[in-house]
Amino acid sequence: AHPVHLHHKHLLDFTSFQELPDSYKWTQLDDHAHCPPGGDSFVAESVPVIDLSDPNALKKIGHACKTWGVFQVTNHGVPSTLLDITEKASMSLFSLPIQQKLKAARLPDGVSGYGVARIASFFSKLMWSEGFTVAGSPLEHFRQLWPQDYSKFCDIIEEYQLEMQKLAARLMWLTLGSLGITREDIKWAGPKSDFKETSAALQFNYYPACPDPDRAMGLAAHTDSTLLTILYQNSTSGLQVLREGTGWVTVPPIPGGLVINVGDLLHILSNGLYPSVLHRAVVNRTKHRLSMAYLYGPPPSVKISPLSKLVGPSQPPLYRPVTWNEYLGTKAKHFNKALSSVRVCA
Ligand code: SIN
Ligand code: FE2
Repeated sequence: AHPVHLHHKHLLDFTSFQELPDSYKWTQLDDHAHCPPGGDSFVAESVPVIDLSDPNALKKIGHACKTWGVFQVTNHGVPSTLLDITEKASMSLFSLPIQQKLKAARLPDGVSGYGVARIASFFSKLMWSEGFTVAGSPLEHFRQLWPQDYSKFCDIIEEYQLEMQKLAARLMWLTLGSLGITREDIKWAGPKSDFKETSAALQFNYYPACPDPDRAMGLAAHTDSTLLTILYQNSTSGLQVLREGTGWVTVPPIPGGLVINVGDLLHILSNGLYPSVLHRAVVNRTKHRLSMAYLYGPPPSVKISPLSKLVGPSQPPLYRPVTWNEYLGTKAKHFNKALSSVRVCA
């Protein structure tokens, strides 16, 4: 794929469309919208839901990572009031007039700010969504957006980042623990093995109601370039994951639940035992949808490579060592072939 240059002028005021413009018409999505037929006898395969207070959570997480690359968690310790407040804060961000949002536009080679999905450059069609990314402190952008009361919004986002960081660290030990990895196996987890020294970004996605949802695409299929991603979705469904042999499976929003994706770097770290999940977001005719993704990765200087405990004479390392930044560079060039481009040649 050749990256196409997309500028913010492509960010249109979605509310003005009665009909889907051609630039947003993807070829049929019908290939796999997974709609289980009604009736009691049919039980659709569904993404595992794991209660983190379950004594068997570790085992269940290991199984989910191996067979799905995605699972939902409940009883995760993130206060539901914080999820609500953060959802409302991001809703008020997307509800601002477009001229206002463009004041916080992401710069061409920047990470933070308002803009189209970063994978947009790989597709000739436009996606029916807007995004806002926070890497580090939200202060600078929020001052532009809300000159009067930005500090309130900053406080919310900072608290959300803190809670996500704690949960991500806990999930790291659960996913890796299920592979028999212990604290001494990962030096970069820090002196207290608490994964405090990491890098992360918060990605807000807004999908307006769409006049022709069967032909539009909210967010095109991709894997995340993270170790893992913690995704909150509002009550409108839209997230789908690709399941081999089944097709696209919807991940239904569950009250208080969070979706955990295995990212490409965990795929590498696990030497392919935990495959990163291909996912996308579809849109809805009557309801808008909002999601908030916490993209969790290693500290900038750390090279990620298959853990030595997971390689041996019969399991040679499949991937070469890469930092998060190097991997992002590879992803920007090869997109969904990025993982194979860091494979060790046999
Ligand atoms: C994402 O993949 O970053 C977001 C997916 C979603 O909106 O559910
Ligand atoms: Fe994603």
